[in-house]
Amino acid sequence: MQLEFRRPSPELAPAFKTFLNAFGPGDQDMWSKDSVFGLARTNLPAYIEFLQGAAEGRGLPAGWVPSDTYWAFAGDEMAGEVHVRHFVRGTLWRIGGHVGYAVQPRFRGQGVATAMLLHACERLRELGEVDALITCWDENAASARVIEKCGGARLPDTSEDGRKARRYLIPLV
Ligand SMILES: CC(C)(COP(=O)(O)OP(=O)(O)OC[C@H]1O[C@@H](n2cnc3c(N)ncnc32)[C@H](O)[C@@H]1OP(=O)(O)O)[C@@H](O)C(=O)NCCC(=O)NCCS
Repeated sequence: MQLEFRRPSPELAPAFKTFLNAFGPGDQDMWSKDSVFGLARTNLPAYIEFLQGAAEGRGLPAGWVPSDTYWAFAGDEMAGEVHVRHFVRGTLWRIGGHVGYAVQPRFRGQGVATAMLLHACERLRELGEVDALITCWDENAASARVIEKCGGARLPDTSEDGRKARRYLIPLV
């Protein structure tokens, strides 16, 4: 699938809204109400502003690191969102790593997440990182497959609240 990566901006808000509304209650998504990402549902202009600021290290909650967000478009439709943290520190070493992503349910299984992770790796390379640390919950077989397709080599697992997390390193140089 041909994808175009765009930075979040107010003119893309209608496409983002359609994208977000496509996630049903049973679909795992990243925009939970208990994080700043919950703004995506309650105040979309503020969410976009937050993402724009985060790319420049502005307005970050305590402990957060600067991150770039890309919206992956297939034609006029938004298929996925990917976050690229500029570096890893603190708890991100255990869970979170450099990259977070989600794909609209009807676009899954067509290589969108794989393309987004490769794009994220390109950005991290530009930023001077030598490895990308990518994590996923042990039961998230689709995400584990994406990471392995992108060359992820397994590190020791971690866990949080009794839930096992897989960790992988993708070499960038
Ligand atoms: C995980 C997720 C991002 C994958 O997106 P995607 O665009 O479908 O991923 P891709 O198409 O690039 O690759 C998916 C791979 O997983 C495989 N896969 C899918 N479901 C699977 C399963 N239950 N068990 C094993 N492999 C599975 C697919 O066959 C494909 O591998 P292949 O190319 O070898 O056939 C998507 O399911 C999603 O958004 N999930 C909710 C949010 C999430 O979990 N984010 C990741 C947090 S770490």
